[in-house]
Amino acid sequence: MTDLNNLKTHLLSQVDAAATLDSVEAIRVHALGKQGEITALLKTLGKMSPEERLVEGPRIHDLRESVTAAIAARKEALESALLEARLASEKLDMTLPVLPEPQGSVHPVSQVMDELAEIFADLGFSVATGPEIEDDWHNFSALNIPETHPARAMHDTFYFPDERNGHRMLLRTHTSPVQIRTMTSQEPPIRIIAPGRVYRSDSDATHTPMFHQIEGLVIDRGINLGHLKWTLETFLKAFFERDDIVLRLRPSYFPFTEPSVEVDVGYSVEKGQRVIGGSEGWMEVLGSGMVHPNVIRACGLDPEEWQGFAFGTGVDRLAMLKYGMNDLRAFFDGDLRWLRHYGFSSLDVPTLSGGVGA
Ligand code: DAH
Repeated sequence: MTDLNNLKTHLLSQVDAAATLDSVEAIRVHALGKQGEITALLKTLGKMSPEERLVEGPRIHDLRESVTAAIAARKEALESALLEARLASEKLDMTLPVLPEPQGSVHPVSQVMDELAEIFADLGFSVATGPEIEDDWHNFSALNIPETHPARAMHDTFYFPDERNGHRMLLRTHTSPVQIRTMTSQEPPIRIIAPGRVYRSDSDATHTPMFHQIEGLVIDRGINLGHLKWTLETFLKAFFERDDIVLRLRPSYFPFTEPSVEVDVGYSVEKGQRVIGGSEGWMEVLGSGMVHPNVIRACGLDPEEWQGFAFGTGVDRLAMLKYGMNDLRAFFDGDLRWLRHYGFSSLDVPTLSGGVGA
């Protein structure tokens, strides 16, 4: 009897002290395996008298139960300690960049603006900027659009309630005020483009309240319409990456140019789609003309000495024509699926040698 108690105490303390799963297994084999101590004790039951068995049977079974339970508990404790250690050593640092691939993309409008800057830089133009919050002098008056001029009403202007230095403030309705800001701050000769945001109170499938324009301005001596036509032709051939670009200049009216022309570019129909190039039909792409003497004068220059041409067009529209997008509003929805489809890899930097369309 004391033997069994001693054996139980001994085995249980061994199990308790076992530090590894292997040593727990060794104890199990030693006690409960085929040749195990407890297994041997169980075998003695067969040779006992029924009375003896009645007493010894439950004791030996109790010993086996206790040792089995202790072994299972110890095993579980060791296993969960192992798991804890593994989880601690395998933890991920979420602050590290997970994917080596860049996830963002360049918005088509930004891409097209980069393409335009690249093309015009090659023609000797630099990029000029002006404020989006403008005053009515730069946006209208200096551009030969006096207060009573109907063109003011046509622009659906967003006005601010306050005046600054006696001028009404507004969100610029076009990039043309950058012409004024450049002529009043730089000496001619001037060759600039001015891409940027413009605002008008207008919204449908082809108009959004904010959109993008690009302005071009050349001021020098002896500039004529021929220079304008060559510049636009060279620009549009580079932009659409085709040599068969045909331009059509139509007489038009803008207050800040005289004469004014509207420029159409020829398209052809390929597989039911309009493609720029050829001359099956015409699409209007930009407004332009010779800078009006009043505009040159408003900037403090003598129109007898300095002449120039200007042009302006919608960047969003150019992007739609080049990349086959059909709804202007999608440009500003921020829909990731659209951006992934039409966006450009940040590594596709447009260059004239590599191709501006990347
Ligand atoms: N500012 C005009 C507009 O927003 C576009 C434009 C037309 C710009 C003719 C020009 C130009 O520089 O010469 O509709």
